[in-house]
Amino acid sequence: MIELIAEQPQDRWEVEALYDLCFAPGREALSSYRLRDDIPPVQGLSQVARDELEILAGAIRFWPVHVGEVDALLLGPVAVHPTHQGEGLGGSLIRDSLAKAESSGWARVLLVGDAPYYRRFGFERLAGVEMPPPTNPARVLGFALQPGAWDGVFGMVRRWQG
Ligand SMILES: CC(C)(COP(=O)(O)OP(=O)(O)OC[C@H]1O[C@@H](n2cnc3c(N)ncnc32)[C@H](O)[C@@H]1OP(=O)(O)O)[C@@H](O)C(=O)NCCC(=O)NCCS
Repeated sequence: MIELIAEQPQDRWEVEALYDLCFAPGREALSSYRLRDDIPPVQGLSQVARDELEILAGAIRFWPVHVGEVDALLLGPVAVHPTHQGEGLGGSLIRDSLAKAESSGWARVLLVGDAPYYRRFGFERLAGVEMPPPTNPARVLGFALQPGAWDGVFGMVRRWQG
């Protein structure tokens, strides 16, 4: 059985190792990481998935960002250990965290990722929302936690200023 638990500070390097395993080398050179540097992930929403032996099976993190005049959550990275991929764990991490984000009052979430995967959770392309270059605009996807939360939101995604 796999349990989802809020990420704690002591999980940090284990989660980094999982991301290193699951993503191509140089992931931290991606422009989305410039929105994360020196800013802690959102506590409570960032979660780890552990099996019955407490071995890390997956992880998801969220960062706060500004888009134009509003606040948003940046979802990712999310990764599932290769031995657990295709079991629905990625979906569980995403759905559970989105529900927690909604109940904690966040209005909107964005990410940079594969539309064919994230579409199933309700993510759609965000026209007019720009991630720091170089980012393929077709990979910038958004999900409204509150009805219409992305309506009329345009502009650059910027680092969180508190
Ligand atoms: C993407 C990832 C988090 C999905 O986790 P998972 O637990 O394997 O996913 P789930 O079991 O919830 O869903 C599996 C389904 O997603 C599909 N899927 C997985 N990655 C996909 C992708 N990049 N594009 C389209 N579909 C994808 C699978 O084909 C499968 O489809 P099916 O339900 O029709 O069989 C995981 O595969 C992973 O860690 N990949 C490497 C890191 C990564 O790419 N992270 C996402 C960054 S965009």
